[in-house]
Amino acid sequence: MLNGKHIVLGITGGIAAYKSVMLLRLLVKAGAEVQVVMTPAAKEFVTPVTFASLSSKPVVSEFFTANTGEWHSHVDLGLWANLMVIAPATASTIGKMANGIADNMLVTTYLSAKEDVMIAPAMDLDMWRHPSTQRNIAQLQNDGVIIVSPGSGELASGLEGKGRMAEPQEIFQEIQKYFSKKQDLKGKKVLVTAGPTYENIDPVRFIGNYSSGKMGFEIARELGKRGAEVFLITGPVSLDTPKTGNIERTDVTSAIEMFEQAKSKFPLCDIAIFSAAVADYAPDKVSDKKIKRENEEEMVIRLKRNPDIAAYLSSHKNNQFTVGFALETDNEISNAKKKLESKKLDIIVLNSLNDPDAGFMKDTNKIKILSKTGEITSYDPKTKREVANDIIDAILRYSK
Ligand code: C5P
Repeated sequence: MLNGKHIVLGITGGIAAYKSVMLLRLLVKAGAEVQVVMTPAAKEFVTPVTFASLSSKPVVSEFFTANTGEWHSHVDLGLWANLMVIAPATASTIGKMANGIADNMLVTTYLSAKEDVMIAPAMDLDMWRHPSTQRNIAQLQNDGVIIVSPGSGELASGLEGKGRMAEPQEIFQEIQKYFSKKQDLKGKKVLVTAGPTYENIDPVRFIGNYSSGKMGFEIARELGKRGAEVFLITGPVSLDTPKTGNIERTDVTSAIEMFEQAKSKFPLCDIAIFSAAVADYAPDKVSDKKIKRENEEEMVIRLKRNPDIAAYLSSHKNNQFTVGFALETDNEISNAKKKLESKKLDIIVLNSLNDPDAGFMKDTNKIKILSKTGEITSYDPKTKREVANDIIDAILRYSK
């Protein structure tokens, strides 16, 4: 399964380092070639000899071998690795990674890694909960690092809570999943609309909505990672373009602009995912000067309909698989079904605003996927990144 895969296994100085011996065993047994890199502190927990024997390679820990002066090239290691896995990842290493503090061989290799990096954090519950750790984790996630979340349970300190490193078997499964999914969208071109639209009233005011764009950006990120060529058309958001793979981003403001951009990319694509929260209406006239307050108690802004991008493109398909979203507050399923049909979509992703785990601004989402063939699949609450992968898996399943 992992035959011929090059994995750099980074070990940092936490008690969970002993569990990485098992992880290394599993990787080697599955056919991977593993190079272990340890931080100086990690060697206090498990001796390098253990890792060197199991990987059949000397462990790299320092920039130079003391007695020979031989230089260990982090650049070469970064090029060699198909994946870098850091397990356990301590709060200290996570902080250094998030801030680019390359004062040891492991963090330096991280900065040179050309392919993905996965970390399995391990620390005490207070350290895990600390705002600085959470900030650093969020930064790493934003930088495209894959996080294998710590579990809850008894910690080495004797305390109970979240912070315990995921079990070796679980990390191993994540690694297998990573390689099996990696390139299943190679050769596919995908259009993704994301974020809100702003409909100008005058030069300083607009009608908008609370969409953060997170769901669409996570979808683009995962599509890129799985080998697709992505055209990401986004309304105003404060998100960085994901750095995974081939993602071409176009920024727009209004629904009309999004419509024009989507129309130009759609014919090139195999799949279109309409995750943008497009304003249904826009002011009929946009004042070119700031509208002054008059003395009237009321003010009327006439609105005109915006084009429905999803519906328009789905009825002008040339074999594209189209995916829409529905955010409903009531009669969820029947409303979502109606949208699926009226917009001629292949599948629709339903999330309910009533659900505390779903919706705008959140990092988690709880979805149901309805297909035009009448199936409904319900998913557990998950991070938006996991939801993105569930949506992509469903697209692949239904488009076969
Ligand atoms: O009808 P409603 O706005 O709830 O439908 C939501 C779905 O339709 C989403 O996939 C959204 O991106 C898409 N949509 C669109 N253009 C519009 C309105 C909605 O693409 N003008």
